[in-house]
Order: sequence, then C-alpha cells, then structure tokens
Amino acid sequence: MKPILVALLLGLVLFFSGCTQHQESPAESAAVVAKTATEEWKADGAVGESEYSHSMLLQSPARQGYSGGEMIVSWRNDNENLYLAMNGSTDGWLAIGFEPLEWMKNADIIIASVQEGKAVALDEYCTGNYGPHLEDKMLGGTDDISEFAGSQKDGQTVIELQRKLDTGDKFDKQFSPGQTISMIWALSDRSDPGFKHNVAYGEAIMTLSGEQTAPAGAAAATISQREKDGLLFIWEEEKTARDLYASLFERYDDPIFSDLARSEQSHMDQARAIIDEYGLAIPGKDEQGVFENQTLQKIHDELLARGLQSHEEALQVAATFEEISIMDLKKELDSSQVEDAKTMYQGLLAGSRKHLRSYVSDLEDLNIKYDPQYLDRDEFEGIVRTN
Ligand code: HEM
Repeated sequence: MKPILVALLLGLVLFFSGCTQHQESPAESAAVVAKTATEEWKADGAVGESEYSHSMLLQSPARQGYSGGEMIVSWRNDNENLYLAMNGSTDGWLAIGFEPLEWMKNADIIIASVQEGKAVALDEYCTGNYGPHLEDKMLGGTDDISEFAGSQKDGQTVIELQRKLDTGDKFDKQFSPGQTISMIWALSDRSDPGFKHNVAYGEAIMTLSGEQTAPAGAAAATISQREKDGLLFIWEEEKTARDLYASLFERYDDPIFSDLARSEQSHMDQARAIIDEYGLAIPGKDEQGVFENQTLQKIHDELLARGLQSHEEALQVAATFEEISIMDLKKELDSSQVEDAKTMYQGLLAGSRKHLRSYVSDLEDLNIKYDPQYLDRDEFEGIVRTN
C-alpha cells in the first residue's frame, strides 16, 4: 500500500454503505485490431483489407463546438518506415499528433486533406498548448512525409502516407519497432489547416510492430518488486479516476466527466502497455467501481458518496482526486529506474495536471473557489494558472 495514500486515507475515509454499483462504463478505449499485413503497401488513397497490420476506430461525440465524428487509423511498420492511413468522417482536414507533452504542445503533427481531388499532407510541429502548429520547414526542420495520396467520397476522407521511423529532424518524434506511441487526433470540416477542429478530437495510443524494448515477460525480472507494485498501483489509480468520473457523469450528465473518464481510460491503456511489456497481470477484473487495492476502494467510495450530493461537490471531489493522482505519479516518477515507465508516468502526470485545471476552471465558472486539499498552494497555483 502506498504511504501517501495511507496517510491521506486516515484523514479522508468515511465509510459509506450502499455505494452505487454500475454495470457499464461510458468510457471506451479504442480497440486495436491486429492482423498480418499481407498486401503490399501502396499510397493510393484506398485502404486494402490486408494492407495494414493494425487499425483502431477513434470516436468523439457531438458536443459544444463539435459536430462529432470518427476516424479509423491504420498503420504498419518495418524497421525503417511507418505507413499510416487516416480515414475520417469529414470533407475537411484530418490530423494526428504524436507524443504531445500536454494538450497539443510539442506534438509532431501530420495534417492532411483532399482539395480538388488532390491530397495535401503537411509535416508540422505544435509549439504551444493550443497551437500554433507550423510546418517543420518553417521552423528550420524538413518535410519528411515521403509519399502520400488521398481520396474523398460521401463525406469521408482517406489519406495514406509514409515517413521514416527516425527522420533525423528534431521536429519529428523518433520511433523504433515495438514502441508504444501516445497520440492526439482531430478533424475539421474545413480543409484549410488554419481553421480549428470543429468535428472531433481525442487521444489514443498506438503500438508499432517489432522487437519490444524487452520481450513480454522476460523483462519482469529486471525491474524491482517496488517498481512492479508501482506500475500496478498506478493502473488501478487511473481506473479509480475513470470509474469515479463515469459514475458522476451518469448522475449529472456533465460532459467534463465523460470526457475525462475517456481520458483516464487512455491513461489506463498507457500504463497497461508497460504492464504487458513486463509480463505482469493487472489487478482484478476491471469491473466498474471494484478495486483490488482496498485503499483505492475506500477513497473511490468516499469521494463518490460526496460527489453524488451535488454537482458542485462532484467537481470538487474530482479535483481532489486529481491532486492525489498528481502526488502519486510524482512519487512513482521520482523512484522509477525504467525509461519507458518514466515516459509513461510523465504523460500521465501531464494529463492529471490538465484534468485538475479543467475541474478548477469549471468550478470557477460556477463562482466556486477550489482550495487545494493536498498539494501545497504554490504548486497548485503553478498548475492551474499555466497557459
Ligand atoms: C488551427 C489549428 C488548431 C487550433 C486553433 C487548435 C486549438 C485548440 C484549442 C483552443 C483547444 C482547446 C479545446 C477547445 O477549445 O475545444 C484545442 C484542443 C485540442 N486540440 Fe487543437 N487546435 C488546432 C489543431 C489541432 C490539431 C491539428 C490537432 C491534432 C493533431 C489538435 C488536437 C487537439 C486535441 C487532442 C485537443 C484536446 C487537448 C486536451 O484537452 O487534452 N488540434 N485545440
């Protein structure tokens, strides 16, 4: 059991009986379909049945400012190149951004469209949280999309392209076979890349084929028991957030809870990728609201009971859980000796900081000032006032 949580729990836990149990979670992760790519890859704007080794369906519902849409991302790779297809529900632009630091920042972006029957694919990089994203060439880098093509029909746009795993350009993320890559995606109904996404956006992860950094299971012996426990704990802590927000969404129908439940599912998937890499088994059965770790169970139950009292209270407990999450992620990050786990923790930490900002900002919109419960005031202000 994590000392931070034990300490938190002493002050935190009130025992409630009869907590709501839910059968289904609205948070869905993108299911990846993997198969052997037997067809030759061709940039022709048509995704062949066996042209790619992996594909996943990304979906984002309609919400304020967004009409809602989906994109199927397909990919394959060899030791040199990444081949990618985007098939999105729009006549405008489609984009993928690899490995953002936070929001859109530092994402290696590919933004593409079909204009007058001709595909346009731009190799870009995003320098700020919400842009600007500029062509690598304009930043002093190079255009590294070596081949591309596209097609458009019935409100659906398909783009296929190729780039090197390691382009040598500092504005491109460097990949290697077997790597797990975090990504963001977005769709707009305009083909001009100067216009913001207004159809859909989201985040996902993709894993490249090939040698893992360490073959599944074989690496387990090379990390300490402390580190293994940490990985499993963080997976379950992300699940706690997902389940809490999913239940709060069911009660209040506020999209912040469904959005962030979806994001927590993506965090669970990112932790899971490392857990699988080290041949470890996830705790429990991933049943909503049920946890192996009894500290997390009690925190979940207590915060949920409080959150069900009012919408404002729900936003407060969600912010509080993000504070707890930030503290635990920092602790794991500080003690981790494993490079890919550290990268994953950094991504999750950026996500939790972002979530805390979102909840605090929604509370401010309701004229409620949120006081940090666990983080010290300076750190808290640093997180919520970052632009
Ligand atoms: C002209 C181009 C763009 C502008 C002005 C822009 C602006 C913004 C803004 C203001 C937000 C905050 C949320 C909102 O207002 O709805 C946002 C969020 C987001 N954008 Fe963009 N964006 C652009 C292009 C892109 C591209 C090309 C991608 C994907 C590669 C992307 C991915 C995202 C994602 C995933 C979020 C959600 C971030 C989060 O909450 O974690 N954006 N963007």
